[in-house]
Amino acid sequence: MVKNGEISLKNMAITSFRQQFQEPEGQPQGNKKKRGSRNSRKPETDTDLLLATAAADETDTQEESIRPHRLADYIGQKELKNVLEIAIGAAKARNESLDHLLLYGPPGLGKTTMSLILATEMGVNCKITAAPALERPRDIVGLLVNLNPGDVLFIDEIHRLSRMTEELLYPAMEDYRLDITIGKGQTARTRSIPLVKFTLVGATTRVGSLTSPLRDRFGLIQRLRFYEPDELSLIVQRTAELLQAPLTPEGAAEIARRSRGTPRIANRLLKRVRDYAQVKKIEPINQEIAAEALEIFNVDPMGLDWTDRLVLSVMIEQFNGGPVGLEAVAAATGEDTQTIEEVYEPYLLQIGYLHRTPRGRVATVAARKHLGYE
Ligand SMILES: Nc1ncnc2c1ncn2[C@@H]1O[C@H](COP(=O)(O)OP(=O)(O)O)[C@@H](O)[C@H]1O
Ligand SMILES: [Mg+2]
Repeated sequence: MVKNGEISLKNMAITSFRQQFQEPEGQPQGNKKKRGSRNSRKPETDTDLLLATAAADETDTQEESIRPHRLADYIGQKELKNVLEIAIGAAKARNESLDHLLLYGPPGLGKTTMSLILATEMGVNCKITAAPALERPRDIVGLLVNLNPGDVLFIDEIHRLSRMTEELLYPAMEDYRLDITIGKGQTARTRSIPLVKFTLVGATTRVGSLTSPLRDRFGLIQRLRFYEPDELSLIVQRTAELLQAPLTPEGAAEIARRSRGTPRIANRLLKRVRDYAQVKKIEPINQEIAAEALEIFNVDPMGLDWTDRLVLSVMIEQFNGGPVGLEAVAAATGEDTQTIEEVYEPYLLQIGYLHRTPRGRVATVAARKHLGYE
């Protein structure tokens, strides 16, 4: 399909023009940034235990062994499961591939897991990639032409796709076709390569950063929510069984309460607690030992870490509880606005410690109480 060893892509000229002169692409950034790195007062003992993004060493081996593989084992997210159960049932009955699906929500809530489950339930393969790995057009072309009918292609951090890759995806998603330009200048010709029907599952923590043409090509757009404590309890108990770590329901509840509504954090805290109980030779893990261990790891009873507490106390002490603008909070805490907005605020909003008003952020009475203010 490549003539004269030359392959260039439709719209390439336009795209590079845009990139050069109009909209310089923002640096990929975000929530993987180490917390409080600019603030020297941060205690050394405070690890990233409560960071919902996966640590580099835990993504592959550890997470794989405890990831649920079937829809029935996927705890919580009832709304999402209902929608997908129907979609799977319908697609199977018609012998078609699933609609393209966009999953969005904070890290660690089960987006990758759900994508793998979908493929299993549909009886197809799931290819996993992330937008930063699709820098060159040929990366996405290579993936697409190698799919089997019905396969799931999972693209993580889909808001970070390069423009060229994204433009290749439009006809691929809509008409299962790749539009490629062969040759240069006057002799350039567009060729269409047919693709098999496939399902694109995109995941993002920033749905607002997606372009609308891309967003519009997803048949299903679903948000993942923070988990309720009782759901997290079940997740912790399930993981404890897989790890063969005896755990009482009260012990599970204690870990759940401190996990920021996030399964990835819950599983991570469970492992720390298990280590502690093992060293102390205490079995099964009960509420007391769980609380004791997590206290040592600086995880507070509501799952707040040092920076959460800093954000709230700055608001209360320096801004009289608010309303205060995001920029002012960022400046006073030494965090950048994006980290505060994406990593810290969602959970503080969820537990009602923070409100967003048109005039700025407000620290609530519950936050004051929790931090021991009058
Ligand atoms: N609904 C769920 N039930 C049980 N475990 C879950 C659930 N959602 C996530 N997990 C666990 O949390 C971990 C992180 O989930 P993952 O899908 O990688 O999150 P995301 O892709 O949204 O960052 C997984 O290893 C999985 O074991
Ligand atoms: Mg993921």
